[in-house]
Amino acid sequence: MRGRSERELLGLPIVGESGSRISSLPAIKITMGSSPAFTDSRRKFLRYLALSPLVSPLFSGGSLRTALSLYLDDPLREKYSASSESITSAEQALDVMEFEAVARRKLPPGHFAYLASGVDDDATVRLNHEGYQHIGIRSRRLINVAKLDASAELFGTKWETPIFLCPLSSMKAFDPEGEVAVARAAAKQRHLQMLSTVASSSIEDVTAARGAPVWQQLYPTNDWTVTRALIKRAEAAGSPALVFTVDHQENANNETIAKGRRVDARDCSLCHAGGFAGYVRRKPMFKGLDISRVTELYDPSFTWDFVKRLKDATTMKLVLKGIVTREDAEIAVEHGVDGIVVSNHGGRAEDTLRPTIECLPEVVAAVKGKIPVLMDGGIRRGTDVFKALALGATAVGIGRPQAWGLAAFGQSGVEAVLVILRRELDKIMRQAGTPSIRGITRVSVAF
Ligand SMILES: Cc1cc2nc3c(=O)[nH]c(=O)nc-3n(C[C@H](O)[C@H](O)[C@H](O)COP(=O)(O)O)c2cc1C
Repeated sequence: MRGRSERELLGLPIVGESGSRISSLPAIKITMGSSPAFTDSRRKFLRYLALSPLVSPLFSGGSLRTALSLYLDDPLREKYSASSESITSAEQALDVMEFEAVARRKLPPGHFAYLASGVDDDATVRLNHEGYQHIGIRSRRLINVAKLDASAELFGTKWETPIFLCPLSSMKAFDPEGEVAVARAAAKQRHLQMLSTVASSSIEDVTAARGAPVWQQLYPTNDWTVTRALIKRAEAAGSPALVFTVDHQENANNETIAKGRRVDARDCSLCHAGGFAGYVRRKPMFKGLDISRVTELYDPSFTWDFVKRLKDATTMKLVLKGIVTREDAEIAVEHGVDGIVVSNHGGRAEDTLRPTIECLPEVVAAVKGKIPVLMDGGIRRGTDVFKALALGATAVGIGRPQAWGLAAFGQSGVEAVLVILRRELDKIMRQAGTPSIRGITRVSVAF
């Protein structure tokens, strides 16, 4: 069974409970982001790395060492970071990480841990983000960048921006309006939104709030009758694409979630009763279905035959989410898959994977332009988006940042996250002399 601890944490919202009660809880040591324990051990590790004679031969001019030393020796860094927690409206945020600080303060510890968690030591979560730091941008000068075109095309639809919203389960754990608030933000900024099978809002409500169809993410379960019903419901809601997530099996070791629960003093039984069956029953996508035979969201006996079965069962485009190797990308193309999302589930499935930005080039090379390659993982800046586009991504997804924005300030927080990333992308497109997405290519970066 997939990480029971994760499931038990999910379900109806408990956010918005008395702030005093939450703040009286002991501080939680989450092993990512900027918790004191993590910051301290990361600093030690980085200091070791910066001083290590092993590092310099690997990076020309010792540039990484210089960068690390600057990072380590900036005494104001932590002081500035502390100010992030005190912002009181979405407009005050300077970057998307500021929403994380507010989300950490506002959410119950168990819910923040659920959002932050990877597996084991959360190494993949950190690596995903750090992967972008090893890539440099090659800016060109004296190019007319007065007008920008950041549009991207996917399956015949033109999007004004290549940034899309990844599917996240149980978003009412972050805000009572959950995925519906995200959909309104996506509508305002005209972004592609993917909806999780285990979302806490129905696809019909989300589609209405978005004012256009969303892409449906699929956890097929181990019961084909249920799979088929999920597909038919997405088709009826007008979804043009079905995103089959292939990277998340049962029983992920979400230790950070478990640790978050330990320090969450609330009584969670009301929202998390009934184990796995209760969890599935509460999810709107399963409403009205006979789920008595559903014991898994992803059946470990699945093979590429199942991809074929899905393909034959739907009129929607079939996209595989969670591909990280050239071998699987080639097989996906052979099986007639329509698109790929290079993803490692935001580090929530396996620890010590390569960052997705490192996996992207080999997947892009393997598909040879036959199908679009989307990617996600660790995107926190417009420059991260730029680098992913340069390495061949057609579109780039954000997971946690949308939930930070949502938890911090509801719909306006999500909107602000999207505006900030777009603004940062525009800035780097201008600076780098790439007025259109098409102009951002492999020669736009070096590493
Ligand atoms: C709280 C949370 C819930 C998620 N739920 C799902 C899900 O239901 N289905 C899915 O395919 N991916 C899920 N993901 C993975 C995201 O779609 C995405 O791949 C990942 O978050 C991207 O990395 P980032 O968070 O660093 O941006 C989830 C991620 C988080 C953080």
